[in-house]
Amino acid sequence: MKYENILFNVEEGIATITFNRPEVLNALNEATLKELSHALDEIASNEDIRVLILTGAGEKSFVAGADITIFPTFNALSAKLFAQTGHSLLNKLQELPIPVIAAVNGYALGGGCEVAIACDFIYASENAMFGLPEINLGIIPGFGGTQRLPRWVGINMAKEMIFTGKMIPAAEARTIGLVNSVWPQEALMSEVIKVAKTMASKGKVSLRAAKQAINNGMDVNLGTGCSIETDAFALCLASQDAKEGTSAFLEKRAADFRGGLKD
Ligand code: COA
Repeated sequence: MKYENILFNVEEGIATITFNRPEVLNALNEATLKELSHALDEIASNEDIRVLILTGAGEKSFVAGADITIFPTFNALSAKLFAQTGHSLLNKLQELPIPVIAAVNGYALGGGCEVAIACDFIYASENAMFGLPEINLGIIPGFGGTQRLPRWVGINMAKEMIFTGKMIPAAEARTIGLVNSVWPQEALMSEVIKVAKTMASKGKVSLRAAKQAINNGMDVNLGTGCSIETDAFALCLASQDAKEGTSAFLEKRAADFRGGLKD
């Protein structure tokens, strides 16, 4: 597929998808959603890709939401289809079996905030602004915001943001745990890449198992979650990476994880 609304780049096992419609602050239209979906499929089927970074083109915006110009064309049915497309796309993003970092370099509003909270964690530039402003348009978040944001920052913080539609700056987003770290705009990508490289150097099987155990455990009781972890732990122990990791420790050398999923 030829990408026109995103940039898709892979370097040293780290994929970067850049939302690339800076003239509309990288707002998500249907074509962008299709391209993102296709790129995620490419990533999922490429064993060499270890980490994904999502960011926005320009210095002003990550993604300023769904493209509002589409909304007046919707009836109830087409609106439902649009939201379903968004949900299945962001579920696919959340379930990608590699770590995904949102590098939020400006506005992350509406669908942009919803993309960021479907990633594993968020790093932001100092000028980043987060919000779910749909209430100002007489609608509500439609790509998972009412479900993922309360799970991420707690029900009270999520309700305040969703009911008021207010934008919060990166520093405040950091204090409520929405964002892990905040850097000056010019340092953001190099800091994100450092963390991506650290994760890319770990075992593929164990990264995948850790992500799946955490994600699948979030919506079940503790006992069921611990049982998910037990199975995932046992599976890791059977991997080539576990042999390498433990041998390297005992031989007092750095581990060289090269195991694949088919070992
Ligand atoms: N959908 C479509 N176009 C959008 C957009 C969106 N979500 N967000 C921004 N744009 C467009 C603007 O219409 C403008 O286009 P124009 O140059 O043709 O007029 C361009 O992007 C630049 O935005 P502008 O509003 O001029 O920038 P600003 O710095 O004054 O304000 C925002 C930035 C993010 C505060 C403002 O654009 C905004 O509120 N956007 C909508 C956010 C939103 O409600 N998102 C949720 C959608 S469900």
